[in-house]
Amino acid sequence: MIVDNGWTNRAAALRDELVAAGKLTSPEWQAAVSAVPRHEFVPEFYERVSNSGTVSWELLSASSPETRERWWNGVWANTSLVTQLGDLSRWEPGANTGPSSSSSAPSLMTRMLEALDIRDGHRVLEIGTGTGYNAALLNHRLGDHNVFSVDVDAGLVDSARDRLAALGYRPTLATVDGVAGLPEHAPYDRIIATCAVSRVPWCWAEQTRQGGRILVDLKVSASAGNLVLLRREADRLEGRFGSGYATFMHMRTPAFDVEPQAGPERDRADARHATTTLRQERLWEHPPLWFLLHLWQRGRIGFGYAMDQDTGGPGPVFFSTEDGSWCELSTADADGTREVWEGGPRRLWSSIETAMECWHQQGEPGWDRFGLTVTPRHHTIWLDAPDSGHNWPIG
Ligand SMILES: C[S@@+](CC[C@H](N)C(=O)[O-])C[C@H]1O[C@@H](n2cnc3c(N)ncnc32)[C@H](O)[C@@H]1O
Repeated sequence: MIVDNGWTNRAAALRDELVAAGKLTSPEWQAAVSAVPRHEFVPEFYERVSNSGTVSWELLSASSPETRERWWNGVWANTSLVTQLGDLSRWEPGANTGPSSSSSAPSLMTRMLEALDIRDGHRVLEIGTGTGYNAALLNHRLGDHNVFSVDVDAGLVDSARDRLAALGYRPTLATVDGVAGLPEHAPYDRIIATCAVSRVPWCWAEQTRQGGRILVDLKVSASAGNLVLLRREADRLEGRFGSGYATFMHMRTPAFDVEPQAGPERDRADARHATTTLRQERLWEHPPLWFLLHLWQRGRIGFGYAMDQDTGGPGPVFFSTEDGSWCELSTADADGTREVWEGGPRRLWSSIETAMECWHQQGEPGWDRFGLTVTPRHHTIWLDAPDSGHNWPIG
């Protein structure tokens, strides 16, 4: 599509940048990054524009003289690029409510491909074809017969197939809901999911050889989870979360509904009142703690800012759970004290404080201390080791 002899230099520069950052080490994946023209997979992308609190999306395209240079610099930068806007909560792309497909940051892709320890001859299934760029990296490394990639969106799969074929890559692509995997070509040595799931479908385990690996972003709710690398054992999947934090867009599937729930009405007049000296109220910005709070609550935690009546801007922070419990925190006064209001059936703030106490007592664990065991019926998160005694079911 693009006649630009500069792309091999840009690919080499990207490879060197990833190597220098410690995100790309093996010669095989270095060769793949150097050889695959990312610009062919991302002929256009959307850039987020925030103007006085209003978010819009600007299309940067190879075919527009006005945006071509920014597009070119974007596709050769180590950043994720939004390539489709849609309505995730309604599964089908349509209304322009947010990103529904993207080309993930190259460093995240290489980090995941290397973590999977992919060897010559391995058969790999990717869930989330998107642009086809990652499928091309896999294809370059493993060849046409060993790469399988699925996406729920037929338009994305068709475009990816055309782009891959134009470069001589012919992996097996399919338009299916990836929640079912791709049983007709199983077993696989590796499964890589490039969309987040709230549960790991057991059929993915069934489609993976014993000793094989599955790498997936497990998110029980927004920001509450991380990449987890699971090994296929005879009766379970088991493994640890990655030490760095990563996040993918959530899988679009009717099976695992991600539609945000409306929070309960919060009426301070009927609320229980207390105080706290907690300094940091934006708990969702501390992913391992935020994850632990979800495990403790055994469900999604809604959060946000109530409107400040005086300024019309963001005011007190609030949290809520699906049983209708809620708490609201005032901004801290001069000595760091905040007022707390709690409503609904449970004392949500007390319960959050207890979970935070547990987190402190455990030495404020980071992601590398969390692990996951998946069986056909249960998902269990554990700290340090499956039998450590610190276990939380996710149901
Ligand atoms: C971050 S993008 C994938 C990026 C892609 N690997 C690449 O290299 O461009 C996530 C993709 O997951 C896809 N997806 C979402 N729900 C899915 C589902 N249920 N089954 C398969 N793919 C799904 C989306 O359509 C989207 O293209």
